[in-house]
Amino acid sequence: MEFPAEPFKIKVVEPLHMSTREERARLIQEVGYNVFNLPSESILIDLLTDSGTSAMSDNQWAGISMGDESYAGSRNYYNFERTVRDIFGFQHIIPTHQGRMAENLLFSIVLKPGQVIPNNTHFDTTRANIEHKGGKALDLIIDEGLDPNSEHPFKGNMHLERLKDLILERGKEQIPLVMITITNNSAGGQPVSMDNIRETSQLCHEHGIPLLFDACRFAENCFLIKEREEGYSDKSVKEIAAELFSLGQGCTMSAKKDGLVNIGGFLALDSDLWTQQATNLLILIEGFPTYGGLAGRDLEAMSRGLQEVLNEDYLRFRINQIRYLGEQLISEGIPIVKPVGGHAVYLNAKEFLPHIPQEQFPGQALTVALYREAGIRAVEIGSLMFAHEDEETGETHYPELELVRLAVPRRVYTSMHMNYVAKSIVGVYRNRDQIKGLRIVEEPPFLRHFSARLEEVP
Ligand SMILES: Cc1ncc(COP(=O)(O)O)c(C=O)c1O
Repeated sequence: MEFPAEPFKIKVVEPLHMSTREERARLIQEVGYNVFNLPSESILIDLLTDSGTSAMSDNQWAGISMGDESYAGSRNYYNFERTVRDIFGFQHIIPTHQGRMAENLLFSIVLKPGQVIPNNTHFDTTRANIEHKGGKALDLIIDEGLDPNSEHPFKGNMHLERLKDLILERGKEQIPLVMITITNNSAGGQPVSMDNIRETSQLCHEHGIPLLFDACRFAENCFLIKEREEGYSDKSVKEIAAELFSLGQGCTMSAKKDGLVNIGGFLALDSDLWTQQATNLLILIEGFPTYGGLAGRDLEAMSRGLQEVLNEDYLRFRINQIRYLGEQLISEGIPIVKPVGGHAVYLNAKEFLPHIPQEQFPGQALTVALYREAGIRAVEIGSLMFAHEDEETGETHYPELELVRLAVPRRVYTSMHMNYVAKSIVGVYRNRDQIKGLRIVEEPPFLRHFSARLEEVP
């Protein structure tokens, strides 16, 4: 097991509050057993998300003070545009305040009710944006991607046969675009291989359907291609990214991940027509095309972050830090999704808590236990997030995987923090029989996991 040494020094520190178990047990009950409702000050190690939680570099902070806050034509926009073109290669770049706005713009212009958007696995905001416009979001991941114990090196891959069958069945009129999410967050942060992307691209091309990427974690995906796919070990991550994006016609991006910023995103497109339509809508709901929903200083930080994320010392540390956490858990017999993915370790809650049935949200129950016992905030990616009722039969469909994601913010926690997390999880595992299932007492119509309230099942 390699001990990953941080390739940076710490210049500013943020104190953490050391809460007690008693405090946390009271708080989690008060907030309806939903960790999204907790005040962040009550958390010791926050692994809720790697989104918008990165520590920015001195270079990015310097960029923040170079903000040109002109309404139109800010120099920071041009820096940002140059960086995105240089890395991603797409023609048009539309800044947005975060990824879901890029999704909203895209699906508002391309999607008609009843149409289908296939993806390896849709992230929840992508799925919600599609469904909100009357479309159907289909997950077509390879079978290994749904097996937490499969060691396939590219478990995020698209299932090409199923995609082909779908295209033959529905035709291009019913499929305005195909998406690939890199890395595949909802299925364990697993990478997609260049080979799979190339074949998906060819299939789409044969049928005249555009291929777009959900590119949030493109650098991590490209680093894993470099590590795992034949023929890429001598290529730079930037070269791999250039090849990957040349296989598609655009992307949505939440720069809150591999943009190393706390806020920001964009929609990048080759199509002039789609760009014109998206820009018109952008002005209506987000902002002028040279700032999107952002300040000039945010665009500068994003531009610099996108360049920094390609630094391979950083990426090696990043991937190894996650792997280091995962390997400690594996060596203690804790069930996690294997191999360890790009940005997070995913606990397999079905195996961790076999005594809790899916309708009692084992993933959420484990999330609650991690907070109560150790002050660690993780997130459920299972039934609370994805179970839904069939419109025709009224039957509840449960997701195949019942996961708890420990997403590690970029450049925030040290490898010593990872030791604390691993030891705490081992402690929870030893007492897992004590953990109770949960039931919902209140839920909103969309994205219920963000605000639902639950209670323990006695
Ligand atoms: C794969 C994926 N797509 C889209 C998004 C949405 O991005 P944002 O939170 O910036 O709206 C996320 C956020 O976590 C994500 O992981």
